[in-house]
Amino acid sequence: MTRHIPPHDAPPAGGSATAGSSPGRPFALMLIGCGGMGRRYVAGLTRLAASGHPGLGPDDVRFSCLVDRTPERAHALADDVATATGRRPSVAASIQEARALGHVDGAVVASSTIAHADTCLELAAAGIAMLVEKPLTTDVARGREVVAAARATGTVLAVAENVRREPVNRWARAVLASGRLGRPRFVLDQVFTGADAIQLTPWRHRAESGGLLLDVAVHNADVLEYLLGPVETVLGGTTRLDEPVRRRSSTMTVASAEFYDRFTPELPETVEADADDVLAALLAFRSGAIGQWVQHQAAHGLRRAERTIWCARGSLEMPPDRSGLTPRVIVDGDRVHDLDLAGLADPPGGRPWALTPLEAALWGDSRTTVSIGDFSRIDGTLIAIELGDFIDAVRTGGAPEVDGVTGLRAMSVVEAVTLAGRRGGAVALPDATRASA
Ligand SMILES: NC(=O)c1ccc[n+]([C@@H]2O[C@H](COP(=O)([O-])OP(=O)(O)OC[C@H]3O[C@@H](n4cnc5c(N)ncnc54)[C@H](O)[C@@H]3O)[C@@H](O)[C@H]2O)c1
Repeated sequence: MTRHIPPHDAPPAGGSATAGSSPGRPFALMLIGCGGMGRRYVAGLTRLAASGHPGLGPDDVRFSCLVDRTPERAHALADDVATATGRRPSVAASIQEARALGHVDGAVVASSTIAHADTCLELAAAGIAMLVEKPLTTDVARGREVVAAARATGTVLAVAENVRREPVNRWARAVLASGRLGRPRFVLDQVFTGADAIQLTPWRHRAESGGLLLDVAVHNADVLEYLLGPVETVLGGTTRLDEPVRRRSSTMTVASAEFYDRFTPELPETVEADADDVLAALLAFRSGAIGQWVQHQAAHGLRRAERTIWCARGSLEMPPDRSGLTPRVIVDGDRVHDLDLAGLADPPGGRPWALTPLEAALWGDSRTTVSIGDFSRIDGTLIAIELGDFIDAVRTGGAPEVDGVTGLRAMSVVEAVTLAGRRGGAVALPDATRASA
């Protein structure tokens, strides 16, 4: 039997309304959450300022206030901003306090996920545009509340889905749209990692905080839909907990661990996990493609990250996310030379494929098919792209690339697998209008 999840509300015609920014003065950003991700936003804004893109330079956009419920974290990050930019933002323990300190044009919500919903509702009530880290909330029901509140107050709501913004994903989407590989038929998306290590923070292992699978698998769900269109049905699947005790001493590290080194001394030796850490599912896309999806965050030994799409005439093998490695394509039995990859994305008879001017400026190449740099440079560039898109939406009154509904879709796919596992059988996904890229 197929069960239905109720649809999200449709987005307003013409995109979100906006509180607007203030002409003639720098775009003032409030950063809420000064943990690992907060540090990454400082790196991201620094990359954006260095892009040379008009309107996004160091005199055009700045962090005006840093907010954290743990004041030492906000103060330490304010010192980092001062070192990077020469200007120290103010520091506050709450949004209310931050608003009393000065004007705000937009907020970045990078607090632990459990705090997102209340934070977003407070920002929406104040009409403050927000860029919210994924996952939007700990569950889809609360996410719907946030989307509805932003819509009711005409506040820009953007979700920080970063992985889709890698050049390789921009390129692959265009390659698939060109039809050169034929119709996509099957996708294999699998990650094996984690062992029994604490994954960056203890809260990721607690179900009330959204849990580890929602935290990581929304990236895969978003990229899969970005490349292949909406998932219509989870044909079957399950989630489960393989490692109920997570250890600080485990050797399995996460690529972004360097941003958490400051907080490592605060980590306990062990964390009791009650959030599932293994997901396996079979997906049916509206396009007719099917997919096999594994997110194994408790795998010992061999680590693997694979996303391969088989189409009617060939295959597209994507590199691991944020690795900067080169994709591999086979068409009609022949491997496409690396130098010919960009041309594969050119629409037949149309303008050659290229990244947007901001993305081209940040990567230094308008037709790169790979992310350039090591992990922290790639990560900072993706955050710079998100910030640029968000600021543009606030300034112009347009829609951000990933709006609340799109963020909810990725969460719904993960939630549908959990539901399929609990109840058995297939689970249909809600019909939601996708934001265009
Ligand atoms: N896009 C990505 O690749 C990516 C990567 C890592 C984390 N994230 C997301 O970013 C968010 C933050 O994750 P993190 O790893 O930085 O967590 P973290 O625990 O390192 O940092 C969270 C910070 O939020 C603060 N905080 C908690 N509640 C608060 C509140 N009500 N008001 C103000 N501050 C509050 C905490 O004190 C902490 O400093 C999460 O939603 C996570 O899923 C996204």
